[in-house]
Amino acid sequence: MKDNRTQFATRLGVIATTVGSAVGLGNIWRFPYEAGVHGGGAFLIIDLFFIFIIGVPVVCAEFIIGRHTGSNIRGAFRALAPGKPWGLVSYIGLAASVLILSFYSVVAGWTMHYTVKSAGGFTARMTADALHAQFDTFASSDVLPVVWTLVFLAVNYFILSRGVRKGIERMSNILMPMLFVILLLFTVNSLTMPGAAEGMRFLFMPDFSAITPSVVLGAMGQAFFSLSLGLGCLITYSSYFKRDTPLLRTSLITAGLDTLVAILAGIIIFPAVFTFGQEPAAGPKLVFEVLPSIFANMSGGAVWSTLFFLLLFLASLTSTISMAEITIAYFEEEFGMSRKTATALSIGIAMTLGMLCALSFGALDGIKIFGMTLFDLFDYTSSNILLPVGGMIISVFVGWVLDRSVVKGELTAGGGRITAMGVRCVVFCLRWLAPVCIGLVFLYGLGVV
Ligand code: PHE
Repeated sequence: MKDNRTQFATRLGVIATTVGSAVGLGNIWRFPYEAGVHGGGAFLIIDLFFIFIIGVPVVCAEFIIGRHTGSNIRGAFRALAPGKPWGLVSYIGLAASVLILSFYSVVAGWTMHYTVKSAGGFTARMTADALHAQFDTFASSDVLPVVWTLVFLAVNYFILSRGVRKGIERMSNILMPMLFVILLLFTVNSLTMPGAAEGMRFLFMPDFSAITPSVVLGAMGQAFFSLSLGLGCLITYSSYFKRDTPLLRTSLITAGLDTLVAILAGIIIFPAVFTFGQEPAAGPKLVFEVLPSIFANMSGGAVWSTLFFLLLFLASLTSTISMAEITIAYFEEEFGMSRKTATALSIGIAMTLGMLCALSFGALDGIKIFGMTLFDLFDYTSSNILLPVGGMIISVFVGWVLDRSVVKGELTAGGGRITAMGVRCVVFCLRWLAPVCIGLVFLYGLGVV
């Protein structure tokens, strides 16, 4: 590890930044819409399996690589397997981070737009259908969504160019706890709605007959996406961890809080979906079409709505800075660019692709590749293909190739208080369980098994 490299200052900072990366639109926007499309309860169960049985060990694998090498993703594999092709997985990670940052910023732009509109009290006295239509008109227009995407990415530039400790860590420490509190408030509110029972049934009662290859593939993609896993984001962040950060515990806390937020989001959304007679399978627009109806029916709705979208925007920000950090660290360390130039380049690429994604709900919605708009294509390819493939390679690498003493040393460092049995379990998952399960899901998805 290079001595002069930045590190996160405190233990809280490590948790807040890692959880900050994991918790974001993936939990509050993507989880409800994917669960809605894929039948609710059955999706949730498979998602939980992938998060805890496959996800947690692979998170540990990324942490081991990152902290041990203290390097960007390309440099990390060069240090651990010089001259071997393992480093090619870095390019999967770089590609995924660019694709995700592009479409994610569009949705984050929507949250900014809704924050501003909420402050103006737009939900007052409107029916659910009118609010629904209003979102459609906004998302398919040519100018506003593009402008907000660019504004959102500009904010990212501002924070990221200030560096790791001052920019990323300080912001996450304040925002993440606030988000939890407000989500709890909304959860209680949703549980008192007339559609609460139906919503809960949809989310928690698995209908196993609903399980199809696309449900399993979707749940695996969601688990990786939500944990920021498989693209080297956690390798990059853990390269800023101190030697005494306990890796297994950090990965469990991250997975636990990440899951909690997704489930809370589901408990907030689905009762409202059924109360207002909306369609759970509405796709990416679901949350934005349903949430305003909740606010319109609450006293002080404008204030709640402003607060909610503001926090959602901020939660997106703590995630996008972690995505962008992958390419920034790469450009800085591999090409000797300054922090500012590396940031400008990463954000510039995302701005270009992000504009196309923003327009794919309107002007460009006729452009379909494999039957998907650009936005859907970026989302689907990165989450359902690139992240699991990246995760599989990372887990095989740490399970089979990396020296066992490195794996053990990293897992037990810093009073990690993990038993020999614990280390063996993680290694077993990395060697067998994760690669075999991911492989099977792909074969199943392709209709081979
Ligand atoms: N995990 C983030 C979320 O759920 C998204 C993300 C994906 C962040 C990949 C970083 C890398 O919102």
